[in-house]
Amino acid sequence: MKYHIVTYGCQMNLHESEKIAGILHGKGYTEESDIDSADIIVFNTCCIRENAENHAFGNIGALKQRKRQNKDLIIAVGGCMAQEAGKAALIKEKFPFVDILFGTHNLDELGDLIDKKRAQRKRVFSLKEERGETEDGIVPVRTGFPGAWVNIMYGCNNFCSYCIVPYVRGRERSRRAEDIVREVGSLAAEGYKEITLLGQNVNSYRGEDGTTFPELLDRCARVEGDFRLRFMTSHPKDFTGELVEVIKRHKKICNQIHLPVQSGSDRILSLMNRRYTREKYLSEIRLLREEIPDCAVTTDIIVGFPTETEEEFCETLSLVKEAGFSSAFMFIYSPRTGTRAAAMEGQIPEEVAKDRLARLIEAVNEQTRAISASYVGKTAEILCEGFDEKKNLYLGRDEYGRMGYFESKTNRIGEYVMLKIDRANGISLYGTAVDA
Ligand code: 5AD
Ligand code: SF4
Repeated sequence: MKYHIVTYGCQMNLHESEKIAGILHGKGYTEESDIDSADIIVFNTCCIRENAENHAFGNIGALKQRKRQNKDLIIAVGGCMAQEAGKAALIKEKFPFVDILFGTHNLDELGDLIDKKRAQRKRVFSLKEERGETEDGIVPVRTGFPGAWVNIMYGCNNFCSYCIVPYVRGRERSRRAEDIVREVGSLAAEGYKEITLLGQNVNSYRGEDGTTFPELLDRCARVEGDFRLRFMTSHPKDFTGELVEVIKRHKKICNQIHLPVQSGSDRILSLMNRRYTREKYLSEIRLLREEIPDCAVTTDIIVGFPTETEEEFCETLSLVKEAGFSSAFMFIYSPRTGTRAAAMEGQIPEEVAKDRLARLIEAVNEQTRAISASYVGKTAEILCEGFDEKKNLYLGRDEYGRMGYFESKTNRIGEYVMLKIDRANGISLYGTAVDA
């Protein structure tokens, strides 16, 4: 019996798919890379923007024929979209061939749901309200070697006015620091070389006895082993000098921080309920650069938020320059039912938003290219994480997150490789392994 998992969305979802794989392995299934040969197909969905949902709907819909030909095929849909208000009913009606539906709060029940479905003809749709638990006991099948993800907390309390995450992932729940540090220790001992701590807003982490995020990060960085440590996502409203100090103190912690700004306009930030100003954000970046001059900052930006004017968008453009982002994820605002922003007046026409996105991408790319060009002739230490079949080159990232490609006759995946950078193309670097 073989499984195939289709994952949409963020690193949290990618990691949860590893847990889904863990459950399926426990039931005797093995992985199948070809969706058409699988006996069970699981969709782990995302609902952060409308296009994420449309993708999932399109791909689920495409299975109608296969299900007709193979009645034994099990199709399961889980994750954020399944948890979204009203979506379970919609999926039930629109896709009569979906056998199982589960949400974000009952992933651990998937094994039982499969048993139940096998024992009956009826479909099994099961959603739970948040239960407050932080340990699921599932052993994930990790797919990211030499990288590994570790959840430190779940949920979000921030209710940014555009965002659906708090509705589908529930309130913030932090795992025990002791459990997190133990997991980091096992991963390091198993040879993982890059460990990423995951949470929707890691800065508001509170462990047992009130352990703060900088304290947790410090404890993780003290774990023995030759690995890099990253974390995401940080919220600028909770960013502190103490965090900067911990990053600076430990060589293991990459000099790179993902700090979503979303907009450069104070009025839009306030409407977004972000609880910081442009100036506060920029002062955080200044502090960071004073203490760690080479620290790379990446970000998320939304354009076309309701009522955003051309001038306000230009403030985002100027902030991109001032903050000196090394790269950014950029999105057109997508109204999400149930969020405050979806009910706001002054929704921005699509053509205007598309034009702003194109201009923003160009501004960010210009910076990205300049940073890449500055690497040429220098060396960069990358952690080799894979092989690009199309390019016929190995690839990996340096601590700042920059992708480097190189040729090698031997498999170097999982090794730190010193590259002499010969040329740069956009966000990518091409080099020669110095020790080859
Ligand atoms: N529309 C567009 N982008 C969004 N994001 C979150 N919600 C929305 C939305 N409704 C973006 C934010 C966030 C990232 C993960 O996704 O930039 O930081
Ligand atoms: Fe969404 Fe804001 Fe929470 Fe991030 S911090 S998950 S953008 S509500």
